[in-house]
Amino acid sequence: MRILLLWFLYAIALTVALARNGFRSKSASRARAGEKRALPKKILIVGATGGTGRQLVLQALERGIAVTALARDPAKLGIEHANLRIVQGDVLDYASVEAAVQGQEAVVSALGHKRYVGPSRILSEGTKNILRAMEAQGVRRFVCQTSLGIGDSAGLGGLYYTFIVCPFVVPFYFWDKTRQEQLIAESRLEWVIVRPGQLTNGVKRGSYRHGSTIGNYISTVCISRADAADFLLNQLTDDTYLRTAVGVSW
Ligand SMILES: NC(=O)c1ccc[n+]([C@@H]2O[C@H](COP(=O)([O-])OP(=O)(O)OC[C@H]3O[C@@H](n4cnc5c(N)ncnc54)[C@H](OP(=O)(O)O)[C@@H]3O)[C@@H](O)[C@H]2O)c1
Repeated sequence: MRILLLWFLYAIALTVALARNGFRSKSASRARAGEKRALPKKILIVGATGGTGRQLVLQALERGIAVTALARDPAKLGIEHANLRIVQGDVLDYASVEAAVQGQEAVVSALGHKRYVGPSRILSEGTKNILRAMEAQGVRRFVCQTSLGIGDSAGLGGLYYTFIVCPFVVPFYFWDKTRQEQLIAESRLEWVIVRPGQLTNGVKRGSYRHGSTIGNYISTVCISRADAADFLLNQLTDDTYLRTAVGVSW
């Protein structure tokens, strides 16, 4: 009984901490609903070899955008296209990030990793390097995928995330995501934080929900990486969620 109570208190305390430390949209500048801008001709995709990143690369190329993919191991990407350039680099190596950012019109990040055990700062330090390189190179637009469950979406991953996944699988990882979001929110760039529900490898449906009320406190909402990528790319031209964090799910 005591263990159950401790588990409950720990999960609630962690949820409150994630809520307080992630980005909270009350401090956001007002979104400009419906404003559109021209499609960028050249973008950098960070996390290109990952599940969402690969979808970002394929879909950006389909949209006619010239893509630079930052990859630690370029051979891992396995995509060839006349409009695709792969730059070998690591988000933790500032010089390689700045070299990849140079000449771009926007950056989209689906950075992630599986080092869940113990504290890590890969997401926040990597994102700090991306933001710094964008400032240095005068690149303004940054669209970054984080996760439902951070900041003012804390708890909205449902009971499974609140009581199992966050406390026991990804507490350090989510803590790093809160720092990642705060760094983005403090930047002077044109940024959009995208928080998907649980990601699947399902097909692109082309139809999903988005907004500040996505998710719920009971069940877990999902979206495919393909649809998440579609929404991320839409944020390059749509100012509706500029300088806010937006949830997205089926
Ligand atoms: N899984 C879910 O249900 C879920 C739900 C919501 C949000 N998210 C978040 O969405 C994001 C993307 O998730 P995903 O599952 O699509 O991604 P993923 O498959 O885990 O891919 C992560 C990408 O980040 C890259 N990366 C990691 N460390 C790097 C470094 N130091 N320098 C450069 N690149 C690095 C990886 O490169 P390598 O190939 O070299 O490792 C890979 O390309 C993550 O932040 C994840 O937490 C996930």
